[in-house]
Amino acid sequence: LANAQVIVVSNREPYIHNHEADGIKLQIPASGLVSALEPVTRACGGTWIAHGSGSADQEMADSEGRIRVPPDNPGYTLRRVWISEHEQEGYYYSLANEGLWPLCHIAFVRPTFRAADWDTYRAINERFAKAVVDEATTDSPIVLVQDYHFALLPRMVRARLPKATIITFWHIPWPNSETFSIFPWKEEIVQGLLGSSIVGFHTQFHCNNFIETADRFIESRIDREHASITLSGRETFIRPYPISIEWPPAALGAQKPVAECRSAVRERLGIPAETHLAVGIERFDYTKGILDRMLAIDALLTAHPEWKGRFVFVQAAAPTRSKLPAYAALQAEAQRLAAEINDRHGINGVAPVHLVIRHHDPAEVFELFRAADVCIVSSLHDGMNLVAKEFVASRDDEQGVLALSTFAGASRELSEALMVNPYDPHSMGVAIERALTMPAAEQRERMRLMRDLIRNRNVYRWAGQMLLDASRLRKKQHVLEI
Ligand code: G6P
Repeated sequence: LANAQVIVVSNREPYIHNHEADGIKLQIPASGLVSALEPVTRACGGTWIAHGSGSADQEMADSEGRIRVPPDNPGYTLRRVWISEHEQEGYYYSLANEGLWPLCHIAFVRPTFRAADWDTYRAINERFAKAVVDEATTDSPIVLVQDYHFALLPRMVRARLPKATIITFWHIPWPNSETFSIFPWKEEIVQGLLGSSIVGFHTQFHCNNFIETADRFIESRIDREHASITLSGRETFIRPYPISIEWPPAALGAQKPVAECRSAVRERLGIPAETHLAVGIERFDYTKGILDRMLAIDALLTAHPEWKGRFVFVQAAAPTRSKLPAYAALQAEAQRLAAEINDRHGINGVAPVHLVIRHHDPAEVFELFRAADVCIVSSLHDGMNLVAKEFVASRDDEQGVLALSTFAGASRELSEALMVNPYDPHSMGVAIERALTMPAAEQRERMRLMRDLIRNRNVYRWAGQMLLDASRLRKKQHVLEI
């Protein structure tokens, strides 16, 4: 693969430039996709095509939307694609995030499908496909397509670059065929994805669901032994690649010792020094089970009033997709619930729930992780969940307990976490209590096992495995052409 050109395509860009009161500021978005792909792209070089979403993005790029990044030590080209506000409504907010997101997460938010949004989604997929063809300097680049924003793009690129190696990674779950069958354009979306050479998911379970969906809704040949689907004579392989994080994480570099993080965070948030601390850190998304974990804390403090005043839960939540009613409603409900719990269980000036609604940069996130006794990841359904892996990576002191939802892909790998069912606040409260009282030696044993696993299965291995499979396919194609 030494001379192959790598092109990454995603909706979210890795670096956002915004106008702020004191000039143009650089923001690193809260996105599991970005935290996984950025170090890999830095290592591979090449081009990353994404939506230019910042208010100063245009000024900070050339006339084609190109800018070399990371800004302080450029290693690859970011090609920004422009999308109007109206198109954003149809493609990003509506079709992707009110349609595919709740559909694939089976999140009990009824998915919304509008034909006009589908047209915009298709048009934006076309625009990005054109950007891929523009950026390609050979007839056989390796194109790494990311996520549910671009299900139609692989087939569009395939039509123009038939020899390209297209690997599409679906970062969210793929539901079973019965659930997926309500999507009005299911045939087109599956055919679009099958323009890829390989379609990747986090788990074997989601691969099986995808194969079953193709089997049921499109005219194709399924080879279950090799996990491939052949459509119009072209074979696509369906493979599990559990995503991960860089090891060691860059954000760990500048961190202070754990003891200092503990006191700095407690001081900043006005929490007494000896208080036990649990944290939750994510985008403010209804799939993350944020309300459910607050209910678990309510259950814990009701069953064990002795923790009142000695235990605080800090939820750092980055506002996300706030234009959508389901997200705005979640923020309002979380604030209401936090106030209610604080009213019920607050004692001696110690409020048990601190809700911090703002963007946190990676250094702040890691400081919070290092200050915590427990990290709660209670997703109702999640493709992987990299917060769980980042928490483990942040704890080089081998202390701290991870409470992890069985419905996050990460639970398949991090089996030494305390597993929780977010749909049952009572049992989740019991698990949090167990985490708070876990002996240091047990914490160490669990942490060590999880750290060993992530160290080995880091994001370079995730990308490496995909690129290795790509290389094998390219060699095979070459042999067949001789
Ligand atoms: C999930 C999705 C990503 C997305 C991220 C942040 O991790 O799989 O594609 O980038 O959420 O969401 P946003 O809509 O802000 O990009």
